[in-house]
Parts: sequence; C-alpha cells; structure tokens
Amino acid sequence: DEHAPDGPVARRIASAIPYYPYKGIPRFYDINGFLVRPDVFQLVIDVLAKRYAALEIDSIGGFDARGFVIGAPLALALKKPFFMLRKPGKQPNAVTSGAYEVEYGSRAGVSVPRGHPLSAEDPLKLSTVVKRGDRVLLVDDLVATGGTLAAGVELIHRLGARVAECACVVELKMFYDPPAGSGLPSRKALFEG
Ligand code: PRP
Ligand code: MG
Repeated sequence: DEHAPDGPVARRIASAIPYYPYKGIPRFYDINGFLVRPDVFQLVIDVLAKRYAALEIDSIGGFDARGFVIGAPLALALKKPFFMLRKPGKQPNAVTSGAYEVEYGSRAGVSVPRGHPLSAEDPLKLSTVVKRGDRVLLVDDLVATGGTLAAGVELIHRLGARVAECACVVELKMFYDPPAGSGLPSRKALFEG
C-alpha cells in the first residue's frame, strides 16, 4: 500500500532540514514541506480521516502549535469536536499537565480547556470538552521522544477519559527504543493503557 506508514507517500511528505535547531539533531522534519502543496496536505488528512472514521472517537485534541495544523482539518473532516492542548498560561479555565522532556529541551506542560460556554446567552453554563469515559484522539505533527504525547495522554487520563490513539504525520525512528535508564518513555509504555 503506497499510503502505508512506511510507504512512498509517507516518506516524501515532510522535508528534512539537517542539523536544525542545533548540530545534535541530524534532521528536522518540517511539515511546511507539504503544507504548501494542497494535494499532499489533503492526502495526509484523507489518510488519517479514513483510519479514524472507523474508530469510535468523541473528540480530537491537537498539540500546540504544529499539532493544530493537522488536528483541526482532521476534526472538520470527521465532524468531531476539536480542542487545543496548549502550552501553559495560554488559555483560561484549563487543566495543566506537569513539565516534560522533548527531543530538544524541556517543556512547561500542556493544558486542556476545562469547559466551554454552551450558549452565548448563558456564558457561565459550562460543558466539559473532554468528559469522563470519552475516547479521545490526540494529534501532533511529529513524535520524537514521545514526551509531548505522554504528557497529553496523562492529562486525558486525569480527566477520566481514554486515548483511543495518538496520530502523528512524522515518526523519528531513532527514538523507537530509548536505552534503559534514559528516563524516556518506551513506545510500549506510551501506547499501552
Ligand atoms: C515539537 C513537535 C512535537 C514535539 C515532538 O513541538 O511539534 O510536538 O516537539 O517531540 P517529543 O516527541 O520529543 O515530545 P515543540 O514543543 O517544539 O513546539 P511547536 O509544536 O510549538 O513547534
Ligand atoms: Mg509541537
């Protein structure tokens, strides 16, 4: 299947910039490579929409910032509620995860909105975006160490919901099996539960 995770389409959708943001990073996978190509961008969304149309999902969360670019059009394609997992201090009335490590450096955490007004007439009547028992799809552009996804998964679990799956366009295989004792989450630990 040319659209398989390791197929030719997957391999050519992201441009790779060497040694960015610093020398220790051999390649920076840049989704700008396909965002400027509506045919390829559409294909990315179509492939994901096809997969997730078959899964039971209540809402879709996109990670600040590049995950918004993939998650929002996917949510529209599937006609599902979309919410932002924002960097802390960026949205009011939110639940925030602890700090976490990423491929290059550390991040202060991610936050999800606690609720949103049900109607303009009564802005104080709030409904929780992620509800207990919900099945949530988490979306980002890229997974490297899995630190970002792990923080998101933990937060969704804290809200009593489940993560149906995590979807990324690019996966850095160098992070498949972090060495024992490195403190990085293994793929198994990240994707189970
Ligand atoms: C990048 C990327 C992923 C994350 C992957 O985001 O967009 O979200 O790092 O790394 P990880 O698997 O090691 O967690 P970044 O926090 O740099 O911010 P951005 O999306 O706002 O560019
Ligand atoms: Mg990101």
